[in-house]
Amino acid sequence: MSEQKRAAVILAAGKGTRMKSERAKVLHPLAGQPLAAYPARLARALGCDPSVLVVGHQAAEVEQALGGEGLHFALQQEQLGTGHALLCAADALRGFSGDLLLLCGDVPLIRRETLERLLAYHAAEGAAVTVLTAEMVDPKGYGRIVRDGAEVLRIVEEKDASQKEKLIREINTGLYVFEAPFVFEALRGVGRDNAQNEYYLTDVVAAARVAGKKVRALSVADPAEAMGINDRVQLAEAGRILRTRINQAHMLAGVSLVDPACTYIDAGVEIGAETLIHPNVHLRGATRVGPGCEIEPGAVISDSVLGAGVHVKAGTVMSEARIGDACALGPMAHLRPGTVLKGRNKLGNFVETKKATFDEKAQASHLTYIGDAEVGKNVNIGCGTITCNYDGVNKYQTIIEDDVFVGSDTQFVAPVRIGRGSLIGAGSTITKDVPAGALALSRAEQKTIEGWAERKRAKQKKS
Ligand code: UD1
Ligand code: CA
Repeated sequence: MSEQKRAAVILAAGKGTRMKSERAKVLHPLAGQPLAAYPARLARALGCDPSVLVVGHQAAEVEQALGGEGLHFALQQEQLGTGHALLCAADALRGFSGDLLLLCGDVPLIRRETLERLLAYHAAEGAAVTVLTAEMVDPKGYGRIVRDGAEVLRIVEEKDASQKEKLIREINTGLYVFEAPFVFEALRGVGRDNAQNEYYLTDVVAAARVAGKKVRALSVADPAEAMGINDRVQLAEAGRILRTRINQAHMLAGVSLVDPACTYIDAGVEIGAETLIHPNVHLRGATRVGPGCEIEPGAVISDSVLGAGVHVKAGTVMSEARIGDACALGPMAHLRPGTVLKGRNKLGNFVETKKATFDEKAQASHLTYIGDAEVGKNVNIGCGTITCNYDGVNKYQTIIEDDVFVGSDTQFVAPVRIGRGSLIGAGSTITKDVPAGALALSRAEQKTIEGWAERKRAKQKKS
């Protein structure tokens, strides 16, 4: 491999004991993505090839969750420390010579520009080890940078630090650039004679100095970037920081957030300009919202695509739905997976849909369930209409062609097809296909007995 190459190792084998969780720490979600997805994506964006994720605790689950990120995986059977973890990636990097970026699965807030600065500084200095550091107001728990002026002498862990060293506020972010393959040689000489009886990656600093190599440190301007997630308090705090970043980026791109502190937008969600988002809205997963939309309080939108000018009213929930331009939804509509609205549709309060396509301008304004259905253009579905799509074993289709008018309180017992332009009388249970242009009614004729109620009341008074 050529000299200029760049590779990455991401450490993610630890259990994360302080999370008090059955789930591996790096799988805990932050703005909708597992923690380890953040360093994984940065490594890829920086052109690191290969990027090796060191897995151990819940290795299979971690590999599955991050399978789509273009990573190689290396297994660390037993978690013997960060130094041992990097050594476990040595095989995957056999023959690699160049800059090795070391990231941590539990340090998700670091910015791409900061890592670019780190790589550039490492190259400019001709260093063998360049550690990214930060000045922390409260350095507790982190490794401390022990310097002699500009020289980095060593890194000492909190648990091994003297009282004097504990006062040092410059900490190790746990992110580095190393010269490979030198770092692997250096690590093979590192022991575990320390408070935690672990192989410390931080000990390569001292090892590099002994080998006569240059060690450098670069301090990150914003210490929030360096935050390591060890417990759920820090996870929530990181969520708040990331949310602020995400929301600011949307606002600067032309999206209005009434109260950004109470707006929950996952990383990777796209929103068009001039869209207005009210408080307590959640936009999750692979959601894309078009321009000029309005999303009212309490809407929860997951993995859905919304066109332009869509009005989502309060309390509406949708997932895996595709919404065309100028639709109005809710309040309190429930659009389940497979809902497709072609455009200018209206689904009103307490309307539930699933695997249902509504062609342009078709609408259902109140209290309706439409599942496994195709609804044609301009169809009007009256209040209380239900598709009876399920017989306890199988699901069946309801097809309603263009320009049909469905009276209120209709049940469509699927499979059934309603021909174009026909009319369904209110209160009907439709079990048979209806031809185009017909009127279908299925209800007992009304019986009216004049004077009956008056006579009954008169009788009751006498007795
Ligand atoms: C580490 C650093 C510390 C630094 C801090 C920054 C060492 C010895 N200490 O401490 O100087 O200030 O990060 O956050 O390196 N991991 C493995 N295998 C292991 C042990 C850890 O893969 O055997 C992974 C963890 O999953 C985690 C990362 O390495 O992603 C850091 O491990 P952690 O135990 O959190 O190290 P810290 O004690 O925080
Ligand atoms: Ca940590």
